[in-house]
Amino acid sequence: MDINIFLEKLKKHWIENEIPNISIVNARFIRDLIKIQGTKNMLEIWTANWFSAINFALELKEIWWKLTTIEFSKLSHDQALENFELAWVSKIINAINWNALDVIPKLDEKYDFVFIDWMKRRTHDFLELVWDKVLPSGIIIIDDVIKFREKMVWFWEYLEENNIKYNTIPIDIDDGIIMIIK
Ligand SMILES: C[S@@+](CC[C@H](N)C(=O)[O-])C[C@H]1O[C@@H](n2cnc3c(N)ncnc32)[C@H](O)[C@@H]1O
Repeated sequence: MDINIFLEKLKKHWIENEIPNISIVNARFIRDLIKIQGTKNMLEIWTANWFSAINFALELKEIWWKLTTIEFSKLSHDQALENFELAWVSKIINAINWNALDVIPKLDEKYDFVFIDWMKRRTHDFLELVWDKVLPSGIIIIDDVIKFREKMVWFWEYLEENNIKYNTIPIDIDDGIIMIIK
């Protein structure tokens, strides 16, 4: 199947079923970052069922590197596996079906790109958990930071207290992201 037709189909399904996937604009932006960085090892905290992971993997596939992605819903995880096969990206994706809070401490790899996309109230916990696994100059992107700003009070405080520099980017009309370069 043509990959663009496949992604169009996914996009339609996402809109009809109100699945909180990243926006098309955001996907494009992150794909461009992967291309510029020449990302070798990427970690996505929260897969849902496909959309962001397939977009990232399509870019990583060009350079034949790897994406690890974590999702605790069995249904979403199984749908994601099917879609990875259909999009011909399953070979470069390590999809883990478990609670990210338990998985992250056990990951024994280093990542040059981390994407965090849920549980806004605990974003600071995830950032803290993943920090030592990010390589120097690695990129960390956190989604939906404008829309859910008030849910993320501890996160903003955490950045301040730890003197972590960041950029807030209003990436599309729906919302924005934070980009941290470690
Ligand atoms: C916003 S969606 C991810 C969307 C996906 N990044 C995309 O753009 O296609 C968040 C997902 O995180 C999963 N999730 C929430 N808490 C989790 C946890 N502690 N561990 C693993 N997955 C979790 C939910 O089941 C949901 O599918």
